[in-house]
Amino acid sequence: MPELRTEVVECDVLIIGGGMAGCGAAYEAAHWAKVKGMRVVLVEKAAIERSGAVAMGLSAINMYLGMKWGENTPEDFVRYVRNETMGLSREDLTFDIARHVDASVHMFEEWGLPFFKSPEGRYVREGRWQIMIHGESYKPIVAEAAKAAIGEANLYQRVFVSHLLTDADDPNKIAGAVGFSVRDNVIYVFKAKAVICSAGGAVNVWRPHAVGEGLGRAWYTVFNTGSVYSLMIQAGAQMTQMEHRLVQTRFKDGYGPVGMYFLMFRSKATNAYGEEYEQTRRHELEGWEPYAGSAPMPTPLRNHLMLRDIQEGKGPIYMRTAEALQKMMEGADATRQREVESDAWEDFLDMTISQALLWASNNIDPAKTDSELVLTEPYLMGSHAGTSGAWVSGPEDVSPSDYFWGYNRMTTVQGLFAAGDGVGCAAHKFSSGSYTEGRLAAKGAVNYVYDNPGPANPDGGRVEEIKTALYAPLGHYDQHKGATTRSEINPNYLLPKQALLRLQKIMDEYGGGWGSAYMVNRPTLERGLEQLTMLREDLAMLGARDLHDLLRCWELADRVWCAETHLHHLLFRQETRWPGYYYRGDFPNLDDENWKVFVNSRYDRETGTWDFTKAPYIPVI
Ligand code: FAD
Ligand code: ADX
Repeated sequence: MPELRTEVVECDVLIIGGGMAGCGAAYEAAHWAKVKGMRVVLVEKAAIERSGAVAMGLSAINMYLGMKWGENTPEDFVRYVRNETMGLSREDLTFDIARHVDASVHMFEEWGLPFFKSPEGRYVREGRWQIMIHGESYKPIVAEAAKAAIGEANLYQRVFVSHLLTDADDPNKIAGAVGFSVRDNVIYVFKAKAVICSAGGAVNVWRPHAVGEGLGRAWYTVFNTGSVYSLMIQAGAQMTQMEHRLVQTRFKDGYGPVGMYFLMFRSKATNAYGEEYEQTRRHELEGWEPYAGSAPMPTPLRNHLMLRDIQEGKGPIYMRTAEALQKMMEGADATRQREVESDAWEDFLDMTISQALLWASNNIDPAKTDSELVLTEPYLMGSHAGTSGAWVSGPEDVSPSDYFWGYNRMTTVQGLFAAGDGVGCAAHKFSSGSYTEGRLAAKGAVNYVYDNPGPANPDGGRVEEIKTALYAPLGHYDQHKGATTRSEINPNYLLPKQALLRLQKIMDEYGGGWGSAYMVNRPTLERGLEQLTMLREDLAMLGARDLHDLLRCWELADRVWCAETHLHHLLFRQETRWPGYYYRGDFPNLDDENWKVFVNSRYDRETGTWDFTKAPYIPVI
């Protein structure tokens, strides 16, 4: 066993995860902290210049209202999101982001992010809410501003945060976090008066389409392993909508996003026989009125109609890129034709390079050959068309009393804040909205510390307990490695990848993955929970050959927490509100009368029990 060093870091505000929300939080917190003499620290498992979902870059900013051009109002956006989420959205949170998001986007431009612009200087729109960027360097630009704001000395990179710490005398008050370096044998104990959890969503909880050599390819970043949820769940924060998940329509194998093709190129999706399922099957959505009737059709319902075609043997489904691009090129001069071709490729080169590589390696010219579409494995996230996350307080001036308890974006644990994928019921914020929500959470956190200046007082016993647990997989491997000649085959331990494959199989078969056509019912969910209990017992047998394996072990632990919470939530909600995301076979219909409510849960670490409640949906607009 390597010799371990412990480093204690004291600060006022600790930000966990330096993605879009984390960088927004750092930028904003640094501003207010300077005025109030506070220390802000950001801890990130990778390097913020290229970490998180925007690591590869993006080709669009999907949330921009254009208020200065009179294009949209925050109220318009709230109505859009309400419909997209099939009626269930925290409108106070969405409104709050909507009224501030444009200012964040304008800052990105000031910092050098290149936008597509019209001759009169307007951003070029891809859709009503989306604008186009040349966004390969989006993340480095945003990260640089965050780094400059807090200062290099306050940035801890290559440190994976595994646990939150609560106060020695008050288990419902935050006191910091623990993490370990993925490069050196150092454990970090962060003592903090306020913590902002912004560690992204959960990917690879379910079996992806590509296994074997393709394992690891997914739409959302595979490095977001559900820490944001697992950290807060274990700290006793109330979570919401953890039954919700995001299933995406994506270009097959490369997982290329579809927005630009649908909205900008006006490409059609059809079955193998050329039928447009959104038209031919529209009548099948009657049960999901009134949401089905609005434009655009909510994401889960689009998925649902596509799935129905596949199930009736009308696949493969195609994105008709050839027809769409040729139409745009028709009658255009050579320069314009080249521009269209360039935009068609740049969409992926900016954002999902694997899709462009796949086309190139398969000799596909999208202006000549159509591409297959598939439905992905599910993701848990709160920033796209997904609504999982923590139940947080909203802003004082907008939120009804049920949604407000003192500080914007504070969870039900005192001093613990969330942002981006970590906040529930506030979908469609994407990169720009996540960044903005990070800023809102930071302002709330700084205010909280100003009002509660006492020192952070973590439970010392708990810190020691966590430190011992953290390195246990390394010790377990060390103890047993001599029993066989190959490290992957050993009766005494299982490696994190082996356990991950087991989790993905359980979730695919019993937790409504693509392999079971997103179908669950009470018996499958109960069987899934039983299997997860046994998997959890075996986690004590995890072996780690090195620090990389150790990281994978703790990422897996996070994913198991996400899986378990998700199945409990699925069991609780007795309806099918989001067909195309998942189906409760035993409750196949929408039930607004009983279930137009949020499902909230709280895990009690002392007793190991879950508490479920329904929280009211209160329209704000
Ligand atoms: P992230 O930005 O993913 O940040 C999470 C951070 O937490 C990461 O840096 C991660 O490394 C870190 N982290 C995770 N676990 C830990 C841990 N345990 N300890 C320490 N650090 C940790 N949005 C748009 O606006 N327009 C688009 O066109 C668009 N297209 C997209 C295309 C793709 C392929 C993808 C993947 C996403 C796209 N999005 C788009 C969505 C957007 O990227 C996300 O909504 C946004 O990044 C979410 O912000 P976040 O801060 O919650 O998560
Ligand atoms: S991305 O985040 O990876 O770029 P995607 O390409 O699916 O996701 O979506 C980008 C934006 O376009 C999102 O705002 C999404 O809601 C929207 N969008 C995608 N497809 C459609 C569609 N068929 N109709 C309306 N909006 C769509």
